[in-house]
Amino acid sequence: MSKVIVLGSLNVDTILRIKQFPSPGETVQAYEKTSAAGGKGANQAVAAARAGAETNFIGQIGNDGAGKFMLKSLEADNIDGSYVSTSQSVGTGTANIMLNENGQNCILVYGGANQTLTVNDVKKAEPVIKDSDFIVAQFETPQNTAVAAFKIAKSYGVTTVLNPAPAPNEPIDPDLLRLTDLIIPNELESASITGIEITDEGSMITTANKFITMGINNLIITIGDKGAFYSTKKNHDLVPAFKVRAVDTTAAGDTFIGALVSQLKPDFSNIQSAINFAQHASSLTVQHLGAQPSIPHLDDILKTENVK
Ligand code: RIB
Repeated sequence: MSKVIVLGSLNVDTILRIKQFPSPGETVQAYEKTSAAGGKGANQAVAAARAGAETNFIGQIGNDGAGKFMLKSLEADNIDGSYVSTSQSVGTGTANIMLNENGQNCILVYGGANQTLTVNDVKKAEPVIKDSDFIVAQFETPQNTAVAAFKIAKSYGVTTVLNPAPAPNEPIDPDLLRLTDLIIPNELESASITGIEITDEGSMITTANKFITMGINNLIITIGDKGAFYSTKKNHDLVPAFKVRAVDTTAAGDTFIGALVSQLKPDFSNIQSAINFAQHASSLTVQHLGAQPSIPHLDDILKTENVK
């Protein structure tokens, strides 16, 4: 089982259940309001830990009740919070999630303390970065912190994994791409980075080649209920998803990534079976409400069919 460190966000999610998403200018009533621990980074760490990986975390909370709640949530999953710093000036990140009756969501994130994480905070975590098999980062924390973390990781031969989510509205630092061993976008994030729309297997192969020109040799594109396409130096394939009834798709992608790195070998030789495992994990997540409350444990993943 892998040793994983995640650099990323911690958000308290407010989930508002509605019949249909509002149109611009429209007011709709929510019929239920709940709250849960979330944030792409924290979700991915929790998914890795619940799937059995020894997991560490680098992030930032505010000096408030929400921050204490997020730290407790990490610790409940045996994730070491020693490298979660506390901002004295900005509050803990929050996300408002509108969830419709088909289990689809629209998410509005207030970054808060996630956005004030610094390169110095990252450098303090060097002792745990160097002992990890994988480091994982996303775009809910500043890009320069991911660059710093990946530089440290690469200097110790640690495998770097970038989930470019949410799709950034600023250009991605070319250094970050060159420092990335494996990139895991969904089809929209992929298109926003490469300019290539994912329509068929040909466009996936063209996308993989485009990422190679940017310096990234290994790619997994998650394509919702169609499955996941992977491409490495040795191989490429589309691994189909299997159908389940989705109650809430929040954190499905995060679960996929955390579960994947918990199983993946750093030389990617078992990528197909790690993807299969990760798909089983995320298929369980979508059948329950809320981000972290819905992320499955190893036993539950192994109980699902076809996991070897
Ligand atoms: O990927 C799902 C997550 O995105 C939610 O938990 C929310 O906090 C946002 O960061």
